[in-house]
Amino acid sequence: MPLDSLTQQPPDGLLALMSQYAADPRRTKLDLGVGVYRTEAGATPVMAAVKLAEQRLVDIQGSKSYLGPEGDVEFVRALQPVVFGAALTAELGGRLTGLQTVGGTGALRLAADLIAAASPGHRLWLGTPSWPNHAPVFAGGGLHVRPYRQFDAATQRFDLEATLVALNQAATGDVVLLHGCCHNPTGADPTAAQWDQIIEVVVQRGLVPLIDIAYQGLGQDLESDAWALRRIVARVPQALVAYSCDKNFGLYRERVGALFVVAARAAGAEAALSHLAAHARASYSMPADHGAAVVRTILADATLRAQWSDELRGMAARIASIRNGLSALGQVGLVDLTPLSQQRGLFALLPLAPNVIERLRVEHGVYMAGNGRINIAGLAQSAVARFGDALAAAQTAAAA
Ligand code: LMR
Repeated sequence: MPLDSLTQQPPDGLLALMSQYAADPRRTKLDLGVGVYRTEAGATPVMAAVKLAEQRLVDIQGSKSYLGPEGDVEFVRALQPVVFGAALTAELGGRLTGLQTVGGTGALRLAADLIAAASPGHRLWLGTPSWPNHAPVFAGGGLHVRPYRQFDAATQRFDLEATLVALNQAATGDVVLLHGCCHNPTGADPTAAQWDQIIEVVVQRGLVPLIDIAYQGLGQDLESDAWALRRIVARVPQALVAYSCDKNFGLYRERVGALFVVAARAAGAEAALSHLAAHARASYSMPADHGAAVVRTILADATLRAQWSDELRGMAARIASIRNGLSALGQVGLVDLTPLSQQRGLFALLPLAPNVIERLRVEHGVYMAGNGRINIAGLAQSAVARFGDALAAAQTAAAA
């Protein structure tokens, strides 16, 4: 095997930014890079409900023996009503199945493997801009990725027209990736009326939605953030849902997620699950247990669950208040921050040239993704004005 013939791969842009930020000695630096929740003090603490659940596990867990490629089945079962709601979960019955995955990314990759097993080289429509890892994950799973524009950078809003034009070109059975809530990287979700128009096209053309939902509870609240997902799933015979607990349980490095399959019939769901288990077994055998056990413990206990949803509500409220603070800055140079209060979740995508993004980092210690994405939660209330000043200064300097 000629390893010497391999060429060096560039590091992942977002992950490289984390080490650049860590190496920067400036005390005034701002980390608006990777998508993690931060407190006003800039910390990403372990949630109190998680700490309590971990303590309980230490006390009562009797074995660490293998669970199997499907992971923690009770975790998957407990998560279903959180994601789909109790009524839809009951209505779907045996048509709904799922398994624990290695974070949301693992769920997306298993979804790609499943689709490719049913139809090699199958077409997946991906609205852009999207999370930069979407296309590599789907292509790595053997899908044919078909990008289309879904965001209007000038107005900072979801582009319904471009989306409908693209989806109307899709063929029956094509898969379409949809962000369930808190769009990454734009923060610009469709409105309820826009979702209904998208769903109509998905239903009319017989498309298969693959819904990526990684921020439930960090936009508005657990129920509102799942509204679109539930509305879609209720209308289609088949759907896939890639779920991440990394952000809403703050379990990032524990890599906790799930892939749910909704099939036209219970027998199809069972067959799909057997394929997913086989793919998991052939790639990593089975997922790590700890994070899923924590989530299951929280969801099974009324007190822990209430504490978790209170904490999550507090996180969403802090993100919303930073959004309002940024929005109140209005027009800053060429960037209109006003729409940020209408967007949801951790991210906004600012229309900034690469030299402005570089000046922000080098001259002002403001770290953001190379595409202009900022993590709203990386800002403290007290840093909003400073960020606005840096944004204005970097644009002025770049234009000089
Ligand atoms: C992000 O978009 O920053 C997060 O989802 C982290 C990642 O893995 O990219």
